[in-house]
Amino acid sequence: MSEFQAPKGVPDYLPPESAEFVAVRDGLLRTARLAGYGDVELPIFEDTALFARGVGESTDVVSKEMYTFADRGERSVTLRPEGTAGVMRAVIEHGLDRGALPVKLCYAGPFFRYERPQAGRYRQLQQVGVEAIGVDDPALDAEVIAVADAGFRSLGLDGFRLEITSLGDDTCRPQYRELLQEFLFKLDLDEETRTRAEINPLRVLDDKRPAMREATADAPVMLDHLSDGAKQHFDTVLAHLDALGVRYVVNPRMVRGLDYYTKTTFEFVHDGLGAQSGIGGGGRYDGLMRQLGGQDLSGIGFGLGVDRTVLALRAEGKTVGNPSRCDVFGVPLGEQAKLVVATLAAALRAEGVRVDLAYGDRGLKGAMRAADRSGARIAVVAGDRDIEAGTVGVKDLATGTQVDISVDSLVAEVITRLA
Ligand code: HAM
Repeated sequence: MSEFQAPKGVPDYLPPESAEFVAVRDGLLRTARLAGYGDVELPIFEDTALFARGVGESTDVVSKEMYTFADRGERSVTLRPEGTAGVMRAVIEHGLDRGALPVKLCYAGPFFRYERPQAGRYRQLQQVGVEAIGVDDPALDAEVIAVADAGFRSLGLDGFRLEITSLGDDTCRPQYRELLQEFLFKLDLDEETRTRAEINPLRVLDDKRPAMREATADAPVMLDHLSDGAKQHFDTVLAHLDALGVRYVVNPRMVRGLDYYTKTTFEFVHDGLGAQSGIGGGGRYDGLMRQLGGQDLSGIGFGLGVDRTVLALRAEGKTVGNPSRCDVFGVPLGEQAKLVVATLAAALRAEGVRVDLAYGDRGLKGAMRAADRSGARIAVVAGDRDIEAGTVGVKDLATGTQVDISVDSLVAEVITRLA
């Protein structure tokens, strides 16, 4: 075993598999950009209080999983466990909420949660996310959900389902909360669960222990107690999803791991992944901006798990991305040939052709093996004698046929062959 290993629970993505990761990340982002979301690049670490207040003290994410440390100036900072709080901080700080609404932003990058590592559950995880801030319109909820759905489908993924519910709003949630607490406090709860029921009773419905599942099977659900406004909002979201052809199942027992959600809340679940089946999730968070010191504006967004989407595609036996490193592989045999082939490589790269070369004077056999391994379609082979004659050999690596081409026409010839 090597002296150093990657931190526990943190994946490395290396060629050729890294091509899948890149294709998933870029594919999901592309779908967001097609719907008018603009890119943001935000800090990987923020003031700890931002997450404590934004994500919620009662969540596992904040209470157990944050990478928090004091920097050299004794400020408490935290590696971002999720993206929404940081986006809100930036929107408020830079006054984007005072401009045209909604503000539509997208992002991709690493997030950090000190969870118990297992298949599909990492301590550094990658997400693609969007946030649409400042307009409380159910059509926007449907857009956000449809963009996530389209993103997965654009990769060829189809063995997932969309679960959706409404967590209510200011006018119905407080009463529901009391109703649920009334129900829960009649049960025989252990100390920790009781505290949880006091802080955030909804979280108790997420208890995975069989006895608790049974005990809460008849607990009241928010969906049966929505205010007229929240119900109408939810019905309109569903009507839009129907019109857009986005299939869903209503899951009134859904509990998300973050506290800021209100109204529309959703999760994409893939059954090929075992316990860590959530490939993406999101929802509306109408109180978050005010809670973080900004205006009282609404918002909705999603975070899609790039790592888990890669695993889900593998589970479906699908490959995405191009694992080949280059289209052309140069094999120079001799000093003069090295100079000319390197120059030709630069000219081809300038035209957007991916080119790699053999280095280290390993001889024809070793160099041709490297050419095959590279995934290139064409090898450009030349010895010093060819160069003196003004030609190079162009070999089709699939068929094995080789022809001589004049150095001057090589770039055009290669481009034609690759087209
Ligand atoms: P989340 O549900 O906590 O939501 O995370 C979103 C996705 O990130 C999950 O569905 C999962 O695919 C992936 N994920 C989370 N934790 C891990 C892990 N330990 N290992 C691998 N993948 C993981 C959020 O983070 C919200 N900020 C989403 C959002 C944006 N809501 C509104 N706007």
